[in-house]
Amino acid sequence: MSPEPAPGAVGASRPRIEGPLKVTGAARYAADVPLPDLAHGWMVTATTSRGRVRDVDASTALAMPGVLGVLDHRNAPRLDQGAGNYFGPDGSLQLLQHEVIPYAGWPVALVVAETPEQARAAAAALRVTCDAEPHDLDLGLEHPAARPASTAFGPEADTGDLDAELAASAVVVEERYRTPEESHCAVEPHAATVWWDSGDLYAVDSNQGAFSVSEVLAALWSIDRERVHVRSEHVGGGFGGKGACGPPVILGSLASRRFGRPVRIVMTRAQVFETTSSRPPTDQLLTIGADADGRLRAVRHRAAYALSPLAEYIEACTEQTKVLYAAPAIRTQLVAVPLDVLPPASMRGPGATPGSFALESAIDEVAERLDLDPVELRLRNQPAVGPVSGLPFSTRRLVACLREGARRFGWAARDRRPRSRREGALLIGSGVATTSFGAGVFPSTASITAETDGTFTVSVGASDIGTGARTALTAVAADSLGVGTEKIRIRIGDSDLGAAWGAGGSRGTTSWSFAITEAAKKLRENPGDPAGPVTATVDTTTMIDFRPGGERQTFSAVFAEVAVDPATGEVRVRRLLGLFAVGRVINPLLARSQVVGGMVMGLSMALHEESVRDARTGRLVNGDFAGYHIASHADVPDVEADFVPDYEPQDPSGFNGLGEIGTAGTAAAIANAVWHATGTRHRVLPVRLDRVLEPGRAAVREP
Ligand code: MOS
Repeated sequence: MSPEPAPGAVGASRPRIEGPLKVTGAARYAADVPLPDLAHGWMVTATTSRGRVRDVDASTALAMPGVLGVLDHRNAPRLDQGAGNYFGPDGSLQLLQHEVIPYAGWPVALVVAETPEQARAAAAALRVTCDAEPHDLDLGLEHPAARPASTAFGPEADTGDLDAELAASAVVVEERYRTPEESHCAVEPHAATVWWDSGDLYAVDSNQGAFSVSEVLAALWSIDRERVHVRSEHVGGGFGGKGACGPPVILGSLASRRFGRPVRIVMTRAQVFETTSSRPPTDQLLTIGADADGRLRAVRHRAAYALSPLAEYIEACTEQTKVLYAAPAIRTQLVAVPLDVLPPASMRGPGATPGSFALESAIDEVAERLDLDPVELRLRNQPAVGPVSGLPFSTRRLVACLREGARRFGWAARDRRPRSRREGALLIGSGVATTSFGAGVFPSTASITAETDGTFTVSVGASDIGTGARTALTAVAADSLGVGTEKIRIRIGDSDLGAAWGAGGSRGTTSWSFAITEAAKKLRENPGDPAGPVTATVDTTTMIDFRPGGERQTFSAVFAEVAVDPATGEVRVRRLLGLFAVGRVINPLLARSQVVGGMVMGLSMALHEESVRDARTGRLVNGDFAGYHIASHADVPDVEADFVPDYEPQDPSGFNGLGEIGTAGTAAAIANAVWHATGTRHRVLPVRLDRVLEPGRAAVREP
């Protein structure tokens, strides 16, 4: 399976290099950089869900102490409307450019003052009047505006004769599943410090990819990319919510241009909730037909997600359905429903996480109907090759995850009948789910300088959003150069370091590592003049084969045990175990931390997280940490996570991504465990106390 790599830095557990800087407070984040003459901006946002700004009356605000001015759509500098994201023009970047309000929370003005307190006080005195128009936030598969999602990530599945296979099936499960809008909730709110100097734009920004942010800013301002310098040395989490060019850096660039001073904007927690992207709600219908012996005959997965008309986005809920199970007929249909919502963005295992909740719940329902063990059902339906693509898997260690997980969890002792286990008044249940998450590599640049003192400076436009990327890449560089990690000095988080993929899509580490190993190879092949420093630079753009010969995926099996109190509806997760196949593991300590964090996010999704909107106003009613609960320490049991031996042959070092696979399967495993404990299916997330007490609210059967 795996060429046994020589022992080195890769494979060894090491704590984060920047840990001491972070715990001593020396690490500087986007809002920490000291600058002379710094001004502060405060956002004012729309309270209507769709409409137009009629007037911004700044007369009172402008007379308040320290106020430098107020920007709105009438007086802000103009930006290029063609600027966009991966999919094309992105209207969510066009801040203060027009009077249209596309969603509640849209920035309508920015107050700039000498201090943040003065800016905030003046922002409260701003009188904004809007004309409201009717809004639509009502997601559903049957919504008249539903249209096929972009197939930029790959075509829909349509293999076999679905109707014939369903007709021939001994059991058919057809159920509908819903997941709510959710918010990323990174611990550090979005923030930026921005200034202009001699026509160049500078920003210290909290983001997941400084280079791509510099590209977007260059497009917005119609200037050369080289004239935009974005740094993001330390970032307090992103979870997908900082993958794009955020409001603070755009508004900061407008304000600093207008007032000729550096400007800092730090969003409040409430603003992060209402103004930055969210995970879109989904409405999914699974139809699965199986033989009496548990062989799947047909899988149909229809999914709808909310989309803002401002920008294209794909919530790829149906991806795993093309990968996980063998069946003669597989059909996927993903539709986007344009609504007056916050523009969605990738969040914590995008697509796969809500998609897995639906698919892996439905598979559990098939096992229930067949009175078959859910682990056994999964083992009986493993595909030899990609069930839709027909391509071989370059590595697929899912069965190893499932078997090892079942062994450690003690699954064999489980009585599969629901409500079969009690401890006093508590109902105890266990559940399982498996998942896949796509892996791969994107173009990146890396430079390595061999210094005259025998050390190496490694520069790559990588981003460390708290995952330990710096530390992992140091190990990769050390092994590629055949030296110890103490010889490596790593520079990341700066758009001046060259083009690089961001920390996203579970493809950061593979993309940056590929560039580093190629740069190291080049340096070793051309050692140059030993008297002076020698630099090798590599851009992997032309080295990457985007039509690989096999399915490149990571896999997991997650097992959960819950205790449900039937008197209060309280669900407690008592055990959580995840086994993962993610290629060769670079740093077991950090890798475990990443997947454990992901499983906690999955627990949080299963039981707690939900952005609730007032149907009448469309506004968030719980857009802060008092109302939006994310799992905290008391919610989380001891989480056990481990990796099965694995090696990705499509990667020069055997790596695959592990950024998001931890999250993807956990919610379904927990929901399945709640069914096992209580006998009630929860097809709507989160599994709230009230839904446990009133089971009718858990099942969605009618549109
Ligand atoms: Mo990740 S949610 O693709 O930033």
